Amino acid sequence: MSGANIRFVDLKRQYESIKDKIDISVDEVLSSGRYIGGEKVANFEREFSEYLGTRFGLGVGSGSDALIMALQSLGIGKGDKVATVPFTFVSTADAILHVGATPVFVDIDPDTLTMDPDRLRSAIRTGIKAIIPVHLYGSPSNMAEIMEIANDEGISVIEDAAQAHGAIINGKKTGSIGEISCFSFYPAKNLGAAGDGGFIATNNSEIADKITLLREYGQREKYRHDLLGWNSRLDPIQAAILSVKLQYLDKWNAARFRIASQYRNMLKDIEEIRFQEIPENSSSVYHIFSILTKHRDGLRTHLSKQGIETGIHYPVPVHLQKYYKDVSVLDKMGLSNSEEAASTELSLPMFAELNPEEIENVVEKIQNFFK
Ligand SMILES: Cc1ncc(COP(=O)(O)O)c(C=O)c1O
Repeated sequence: MSGANIRFVDLKRQYESIKDKIDISVDEVLSSGRYIGGEKVANFEREFSEYLGTRFGLGVGSGSDALIMALQSLGIGKGDKVATVPFTFVSTADAILHVGATPVFVDIDPDTLTMDPDRLRSAIRTGIKAIIPVHLYGSPSNMAEIMEIANDEGISVIEDAAQAHGAIINGKKTGSIGEISCFSFYPAKNLGAAGDGGFIATNNSEIADKITLLREYGQREKYRHDLLGWNSRLDPIQAAILSVKLQYLDKWNAARFRIASQYRNMLKDIEEIRFQEIPENSSSVYHIFSILTKHRDGLRTHLSKQGIETGIHYPVPVHLQKYYKDVSVLDKMGLSNSEEAASTELSLPMFAELNPEEIENVVEKIQNFFK
């Protein structure tokens, strides 16, 4: 069974399963002659905000842009502090630097791998303007406690839901709980475009209005610029693809859930491996299926030699990246949980079309390694 050739993500298989519908939808854009804005974008914005349960939804150029504009829409800039986790994709914290503010890194809980609310409680005392929890790997952060802390202090919460399309916490979708939420449609995401794309969801009409200006040169009317904005729009071709894919999102997420349950079940007896804990009353959409083991690097090499692709999300926590030295405030109690996760995390192949033989194959190779 060696030479398995199992990809970490295989986007071609997803495309082939819905090719006809995608091709028709893209062709409608190409034939329309309208390549910026228009009906496809408006339709997708309505569909995805309805799916999330938010009043407003705005397509933008990427998840990174969504985070920057979300902060700007709250008036956050120079001299302000924003709390987030260092165990995330770098964009979460970069957005804070891009608007001139300072990231305050709060450590993660070692079991759930998301923001530890107790650590947040002490960080808040340093004077925080906003909090960006990250629903890492598709598993919701502890939003009940984070929102309670934020509401007590009158601080805004921006959910980084870039990895959590369709995840649920206490009956609500991630991305519908904070004041603003940001999504990425990077191709490998659970809901992915054929290129870059992003989304901002909110129930606040003033924020939605500000983002409408920010994403398009600060203009309400053509050539009348009310504020300094960007060019960061969701392209109609991407919206056309996303509208089709949104119809399959729950089905694909259910398949990911089944695959994750199989992995968990088949690997549960290996003492050297532990899994991300999913909080009570929450469901993960398993954007990434993660295992944590001190033997990460050896296991990764072993799997690679047998043709099994894996990933590491993320090998270096943000506070240890070169340009973060001296530009951030670190958790007073240290960031050892983030550092530990960064040195032990291994992401196994995960996509909805992964078949039972492939899952068994991955599991068997892992079992052999630990024998
Ligand atoms: C947690 C997180 N935040 C932000 C981003 C940035 O999104 P994008 O790649 O669309 O700019 C990503 C995606 O890669 C992400 O995983």
